Amino acid sequence: MEKKFKRTLITTALPYANGPVHIGHLAGVYVPADIYARFLRMRGEDAVLIGGSDEHGVPITIKARAEGVTPQDIVDRYHKIIKDSMEGLGISFDIYSRTTSDIHSKTASEFFRRLYDNGQFECKTSLQPYDEQAGQFLADRYVTGTCPHCGNDRAYGDQCEACGTSLNATDLINPRSSLTSAPVTMRETTHWYLPLNRWEENLRKWILDGHKEWKTNVYGQCKSWLDLGLQPRAVSRDLDWGVPVPVEGADGKVLYVWFDAPIGYISNTKELMPDSWEKYWKDPETRIINFIGKDNIVFHCIVFPAMLMAYGDGFQLPDNVPANEFLNLEGDKISTSRNWAVWLHEYLEDFPGKQDVLRYVLTANAPETKDNDFTWADFQARNNNELVAILGNFVNRAMVLTHKYFNGSVPERGELEPTDTDAFRDINTVADNLTSALETFHFREALKEAMEIARIGNRYLQETEPWKVAKTDMQRTATILNMALQICANIAVAFRPFLPFSSQKLQDMLGMDEPYWVQLGSDNIMPAGRTLAKPELLFEKIDDAAIQAQLERLDRIKQENKIKNFKPAPQAPDVDFDTFMKADLRVGTVLECAKVPKADKLLRFLIDDGMQQRTIVSGIVKYYKPEDLIGKQVCFIANLPPRKLRGIESQGMILSAENADGSLVVIGPSAPVVPGAQVK
Ligand code: MF3
Ligand code: ZN
Repeated sequence: MEKKFKRTLITTALPYANGPVHIGHLAGVYVPADIYARFLRMRGEDAVLIGGSDEHGVPITIKARAEGVTPQDIVDRYHKIIKDSMEGLGISFDIYSRTTSDIHSKTASEFFRRLYDNGQFECKTSLQPYDEQAGQFLADRYVTGTCPHCGNDRAYGDQCEACGTSLNATDLINPRSSLTSAPVTMRETTHWYLPLNRWEENLRKWILDGHKEWKTNVYGQCKSWLDLGLQPRAVSRDLDWGVPVPVEGADGKVLYVWFDAPIGYISNTKELMPDSWEKYWKDPETRIINFIGKDNIVFHCIVFPAMLMAYGDGFQLPDNVPANEFLNLEGDKISTSRNWAVWLHEYLEDFPGKQDVLRYVLTANAPETKDNDFTWADFQARNNNELVAILGNFVNRAMVLTHKYFNGSVPERGELEPTDTDAFRDINTVADNLTSALETFHFREALKEAMEIARIGNRYLQETEPWKVAKTDMQRTATILNMALQICANIAVAFRPFLPFSSQKLQDMLGMDEPYWVQLGSDNIMPAGRTLAKPELLFEKIDDAAIQAQLERLDRIKQENKIKNFKPAPQAPDVDFDTFMKADLRVGTVLECAKVPKADKLLRFLIDDGMQQRTIVSGIVKYYKPEDLIGKQVCFIANLPPRKLRGIESQGMILSAENADGSLVVIGPSAPVVPGAQVK
């Protein structure tokens, strides 16, 4: 049985303000949350959409240190980028605030203090990794050393990425600080722990018995955490960036970022509605929905609910946590540190006016049940073949025909025929499916259903052929176009949660008021006699050049990453001096250079070696234009036995260096020398 509710509080995971937001954040959290909020508002429900930046935590301090600025500078920069770009995409937050606000530190501090006063924490002293040079404790992630299992010398204090073993900083051999590279020592420190074990039974009942309807990925993750048994979790850290622990003698300690951030949902609600916020958190007739990515499940389903239970005072737990899986980019995991992402603020610059295209593609590929992939080819195809060819095309045909035959005014309709009523019977079936998909957080499916309305519209025009009927029967033509315009109006309603910009444009063309969800399925939205605006295209084709530019950008990033992560090959075993000296290395001048026909990798060189002209074949065609090498001096091995390559005898080998990305650079003298000069 659905619980009865009067209002809905929709929260979205607070993104870390240590970088801009990317398509992974959008597909997983912000686009679905926005669709849901817009849908509820269109139903006339009281729904608020809460967002904000998560501005504490170690990564922000590290980034600040690396740039030589303060953590506040970092969060100011990214908070602005994130806030502006989310607005640019039409994410309809009722508030987008930040965890460095005064109201937040007061709220978080008071929250901690109440738990502390009520004996809800355990206080424990333990040994923790410490960087003497930086004078600070280190989170496990910032300790690096040699993995005791596989010998990887770049293992992290929480995990070795080479063999996948999860580690503690104390397991590493030669542990070093990744802040300063100083050796890590162990120091005693005291922290407060939230004993999750005390809440285990309540959590089991609440989730495992009470929320069997949650998405299977969410329910399953909760079940495996609960089945493992819950342990006390530290909720404070030794750090000088965060909300200070509000307890005497806790100098230099702040709340753990995962303790303060979810309280941000409460602080932001307070900031939005100083007088009525409590209803949204404490009234059992409020429904709370948390939109998050899968890496946040444990914090939203276990830790934060335990905090709320420990706090008491009527705080309600979430009704649903529709967490999504991850979105990949062109087959690789999205990563802020590797710059492997499509950044929202850059997208908005590169594709002005195309917010809805991104919203459409991200919803169509939403990683709802499994990880999914964003590719630029798919982005282009969905725009050109779906938005332009199906949705835009139908609306445009209906509009243009009405202008052509009825001067742009909605024609009066006569008696309906089965084709007309059939179309609306289908639209009503689709509308029901669309509504229930939205109610149950199946946004991909919901979008497909919405698109179905445009397909029905195209089919309707195909079957009724008003451009032919107009030659003989204007009365029937009027009926057909009236119905087609009713379908357009249905499209404006159905797509409003998904594509708010284009829906608005369509409403304006149709002269519609702010639509309500109840209108969906009606064949009476457009009154006869209303004048339409002149038709404008809702979507336009995206050409290959725009896609190519994005792919080239990604290629550049791949190359840059290879160079950043380059590890020189291990040194070869010793060679004795006499053996080495047997290699006759010389410099020659390139006289001719050309591609070897039918051999895609090879270049044929003619080299002046001081005595004669010699032919050498070399596999560097990918990296040079042959004509650029003519006249250059190169270093080659003169005394290799000749070898036939593609029928050409190669008399030696040109030396080149292999770069991190596998490209080859020819080696030559740093100043001109006589051809035939020996290299010693
Ligand atoms: N900043 C976290 C992340 O990006 C999410 C915080 S959600 C909140 O993974 F509940 F803590 F706010
Ligand atoms: Zn390892």
